[in-house]
Order: sequence, then structure tokens, then C-alpha cells
Amino acid sequence: MKKTAKSIGSVSAIIGAQWGDEGKGKVTDIIAGEFDVIARACGGANAGHTIVVGGKKFVFHLLPSGALHPGKEVVIGSGMVVHLPTLLEEISVVEKAGIGIVDRLFISDEAHILFDYHRQIDGMLENWRAEYAGQAIGTTGRGIGPAYMEKARRSGIRMGSLRGDIRSELESAADGIRRMFGITVDRAGELRETACAAERLGDRITDTVALLHQRMSQGKKVLMEGAQGTLLDIDHGTYPYVTSSATTAAGVLQGLGVPPLALTSCIGVLKAYCTRVGSGAFPAEADAETAQRIRERGGEYGATTGRPRRCGWLSISDLRRAHQLNGFTHWNLTKIDVLDEEERIPVAMPAAGGRTTFEMLPGWHAPTKGIRSFSALPREAQSYVSFIEEQTGVPVAFIGTGPGREEMIVRLGT
Ligand code: GDP
Ligand code: IMO
Ligand code: MG
Repeated sequence: MKKTAKSIGSVSAIIGAQWGDEGKGKVTDIIAGEFDVIARACGGANAGHTIVVGGKKFVFHLLPSGALHPGKEVVIGSGMVVHLPTLLEEISVVEKAGIGIVDRLFISDEAHILFDYHRQIDGMLENWRAEYAGQAIGTTGRGIGPAYMEKARRSGIRMGSLRGDIRSELESAADGIRRMFGITVDRAGELRETACAAERLGDRITDTVALLHQRMSQGKKVLMEGAQGTLLDIDHGTYPYVTSSATTAAGVLQGLGVPPLALTSCIGVLKAYCTRVGSGAFPAEADAETAQRIRERGGEYGATTGRPRRCGWLSISDLRRAHQLNGFTHWNLTKIDVLDEEERIPVAMPAAGGRTTFEMLPGWHAPTKGIRSFSALPREAQSYVSFIEEQTGVPVAFIGTGPGREEMIVRLGT
């Protein structure tokens, strides 16, 4: 049954429905204007969220994509693993664009610090896996797995320690790392980085759970920006070819300390086709020639690593599963303009025995770039949108027709 999208309400989560890079940054930036606080919850600088404003491109790895809206509060939540030099670099990019950020940034004292040695271990583990298990995960090399390993074994160093005796914590961590991985941590270098971050950001480190609850009790609106995508979730994704954090709505709530019933909407971000970076199954992957065409039209190269993204088609069973896991209230279908020249658009449909069959939907052979109203879309593009709504039971409330902030069709009720 077709549902009409209701308004988003005051506490909303934005969640990738596929293998990441669906366009979460863009929709976060667009609707951030309606919110008071924009918060990242989990993951780290493995994320690359792109925003294009007035033709200028910004890629955020750690800062929430609301950072470009002066005056909005932005939060780095407890579930995150934070590489301090990357954060300082991002802050300087925003400041160079003439936008003040530090005074409205709040960093959780419970977030973990990701050190350069985590990156080094990430590389080692990937090499080991390639050698002994035959295939590396294809991580972003940003140290994510090792940082969450330390967190799970309860030996991580948290942001709150930037204001305490981080030297002795680092000594003991370095000792453990040497014993386990045979790596000598550059203690002096790491201490220089932490001192630099402490000086710049020390007074921005706080209890962000208390902050968010205070803002919500004041009637302020909170937007939670997910990272990665549902199929990369540590529990429910295509394990072991996943990331090391929970990427679903539940993960976002956990990562920010917000209770489930506070959520008024959950926006699933869904590319009109599908991409994946790194190894792992991709049953609806396109043949090499088609994938290359889509990759060029869609600019499908990683925002974090520059790696070519593998390209393929929507899978209805994956989307239904993502909806089960997240309880989407709205879809943001992105990048339909990339399919403008396709003759036919295959969509993988569930079939008996777990097989994949493809339903061929007609293409539209007409430019959709920059279109801002649903009625102006070609008939076949409208049918493509309706097909997704019928197959998933979730209304498509936002349709991306280009990378720019203004290139979005919005279909929201009241
Ligand atoms: P995220 O990680 O989910 O935020 O997505 P990325 O930023 O990694 O990748 C999405 C890419 O698609 C970026 O280059 C965006 O600028 C671009 N993009 C987002 N929405 C659209 C759209 O509707 N059309 C087109 N052509 N590009 C888009
Ligand atoms: P955003 O937020 C796409 C993928 C990596 C690899 C796997 C594990 O931009 O959508 P990791 O470095 O996390 O240990 O890598 O997860 N991956 C992403 N793919 N977008 C992302 O983030 C990703 N973050 C991690 O390519 O396959
Ligand atoms: Mg990305």
C-alpha cells in the first residue's frame, strides 16, 4: 500500500541503506537548515560525505555534514573513533571557507581517539588476511578496525583523557601494542598531536549525552547523521566484509545515547543503483562495461580513498532487509540523473531458493539533472520511484537530481 511521506519531525536519523556512499552528506546538509543540532554517531574517517554548495565541494570525514550551516550546533558522538589530525584539518577547511565552527562544536568525552598506530595495524591486518585468508577486506586503511578492537578489549583512550594524564595512558597502550603487534609506537609524535588537539579543542570536549537531552527537552530539533551503510553493519551486514561499527539506526541511537522512542523519523538513503568499495559479495553487480559507464557518469570514486567503486543495480531483498533493520519512514532516492541514458534498468528481485532474478524497468532517455518537482520528471522515472515505493512500502520523500544543494525534489506532507 502506498504511503505519503509525513513531515520529518524533531528527532531524525539519516541512514545509508546500501554499502555506503549513498549520498547521506548531501541530504544531511539540505535538511540541516531545519534543525538545531546535527550529530555524527559512529564510525570515523572511513566515512567521506560530500556536499556541493555553489559549485564548491566539501568532503567531511568526521565533522557532521551540518557544519556548513553557521550557527547550528554540531556533535561528534560517543560511538565515534576520532583521528585528531584529520579533525583539525577539517576544521581548518571550514574556517578557510569563512565559517566559524569550533565554538559550536561539541565532542563526546566518551568518543575514542584513533591514533596513527591504529592505521599502521589496519595495514598489517589487511596484509595478513590477504596472505592467510586469501582476501583482504579492502578497508579504507584509516585504522577503524584496530581502534574498535581496542575499544572492545577495554584498552582504548577516550577523548576525555585529552584533559587528563594522557601520557601515562599512551605509555601503557604503546606497551600493549608492542607486545601484540611488534610495533613501536611513536610516543613523542602521538603526544605532540594530542597536545595540539587538547589546546585547540580541550574545552569542546563534554558530556554530549547530557547536551543532547538538554537540547531535546528545550524543544530543539536534532538530526543524527549515520555513516557507512546498513550492509556494512558489523552484525547485520555482509560479514566479514563489513566495517567495525553498527551502522543502522540502532547504532546511531547507541552512539549518541538517544533512546529509541525519541526518534520521530528515519530517512533511508538509497542510490538509484548500487555501489560497493572493497571486497565482498555483490550479487547485482553489473558487467565490467556497464559498471564503467555508470562509474563515469556517477563519479563513482571513493570520497575517502579515491578507489573506483564497484557498480551494479538495486536489490529489492536488500532494501526490504534494510527497512526491517532500520524502520525507515522516508526514502531519499539519490542520483537518478546518473541513469538518464540507460536503455533499461535492471532491478534484482527476490526469487525462490535465494536466487537473484532481474526485472527490467524502462529507462527514460531524458535529462533529469537539476529537476526540482516530481511532476517534471519523465514518466518512466516517476514509475521507477513508484516501483521502489511499492516494493518496499516506504515513501520516497526526497529525490536527488544532481550533487548540488539545490538539486533535490522534496515531497513531504505535514
Ligand atoms: P555519502 O558517503 O553517503 O555522504 O556519499 P558520498 O559523498 O561518498 O558519495 C555520494 C556522491 O554522489 C558525492 O560525490 C555526491 O556529491 C554525489 N551526489 C549525491 N547526490 C547526488 C545526486 O542526486 N546526483 C548526482 N549526480 N550526484 C549526487
Ligand atoms: P560513508 O560514510 C563506503 C567500507 C570499506 C571496506 C569496509 C571496511 O562515506 O558511506 P573500514 O575502513 O571501515 O574498516 O572498511 O567498509 N567502508 C565504506 N564504504 N562508504 C563508507 O562510508 C565506508 N566506510 C567503510 O570500503 O569495504
Ligand atoms: Mg562516502
